[in-house]
Amino acid sequence: MRFPSLGSASKMARQLARRVPFSGLVLSGEGPVPTERPSEVRLKRSDESVNYTEFAKTQARPARIGPSGTEPLPVAHELVYTWDYASQRTDLRALYEKSKDLNWNARTDLPWDARVDPEGQNIPDSFNPLFGSSVWRKLDPKTEIPRLRQHMTSYVLSNFLHGEQGALLATSQLVAVAPTPDAKFYAAAQVFDEARHVEAYDRYLREKIELVYPISPPLRTLLDTVLTDSRWDFKYLGMQIMIEGIALGAFGLIHKTAEEPLICKITEMILQDESRHVAFGVLSLKDAFKEMKESELRDREDFIVESSRLLRERFVGEEVWERLGLPKAECNALALESPFMRMFQSLLFSKIVPNVRKLGLLTPRVRKGFEELGVIEYETWEASA
Ligand SMILES: [Fe+2]
Ligand SMILES: [Fe+2]
Repeated sequence: MRFPSLGSASKMARQLARRVPFSGLVLSGEGPVPTERPSEVRLKRSDESVNYTEFAKTQARPARIGPSGTEPLPVAHELVYTWDYASQRTDLRALYEKSKDLNWNARTDLPWDARVDPEGQNIPDSFNPLFGSSVWRKLDPKTEIPRLRQHMTSYVLSNFLHGEQGALLATSQLVAVAPTPDAKFYAAAQVFDEARHVEAYDRYLREKIELVYPISPPLRTLLDTVLTDSRWDFKYLGMQIMIEGIALGAFGLIHKTAEEPLICKITEMILQDESRHVAFGVLSLKDAFKEMKESELRDREDFIVESSRLLRERFVGEEVWERLGLPKAECNALALESPFMRMFQSLLFSKIVPNVRKLGLLTPRVRKGFEELGVIEYETWEASA
């Protein structure tokens, strides 16, 4: 299994950009900036043959089985006005320009007509922590294995979906707390990206898998921490480095191994956005920790190690065993021992560790934490910006 590099993500991005009518104008901040849009672009932006209201109505059907309702979370963070509108961070402004050119549309750029068997091997069986185990061998291959497949696919993708909602909420907070117009603009562009990601995973789960799981407790804990902490750098560190870093690893694996073309395409499109999101975090936090007092730095170190532990616990599948009436303790033990799962959970850190190092946060305490988690080997891998 090959892990996707940023090189392949940017190649995908370039391929996508070729399909955008005025993509030849700006891709990476290097080419000339367009002063005028060709007239046919304006026409394509608003397609009068599309009945947007009718389409919106098709999205009103709730999941057959899934969480519902709303839940308020009290938060407190500073809001920052910026009265200097001229660019102060050309690196973030370039990322914002690139983001606008690489926008895509989840309604029109994905093959939603695809027929998907919710109990099919949409994600390979080898992703299942029970695969090949004594519990797996006892399951009926005609009824119980297909049901387990549906639940495991839903469990994994539902946590992607809820994580995307967390990213949507966190980046909306970054718009408020960011100190420069460039960071506010980029964060706003990311808010739109994350809305699209929520849209795509939600639609796939509702229409194709017909089952949505509630958020996993460790992911919920992490999202609550990021969203309620008032310190701006914790929001960047938690969302843009830790959660987005894990997303890059997990989506990359799904994209490389999924056997169902629609979910493969969804993750491909989302991946090319996520690599920009992690780069935004790395660029924004550059120099943030250099002069920091030891006691403050200690909070960041604890947060990195603790959130890494939480993220590793994300994919054990406990909720699935519970729902399907499988022996919980035995399944948890099998999942933790599974060589594939150990490799998978470790690979999820292949972006986090180099990025933490690049930010100057691979201190002796963080190093010790990463060693205990078995992920320090990634320290020499390529960082995101
Ligand atoms: Fe996302
Ligand atoms: Fe993201």
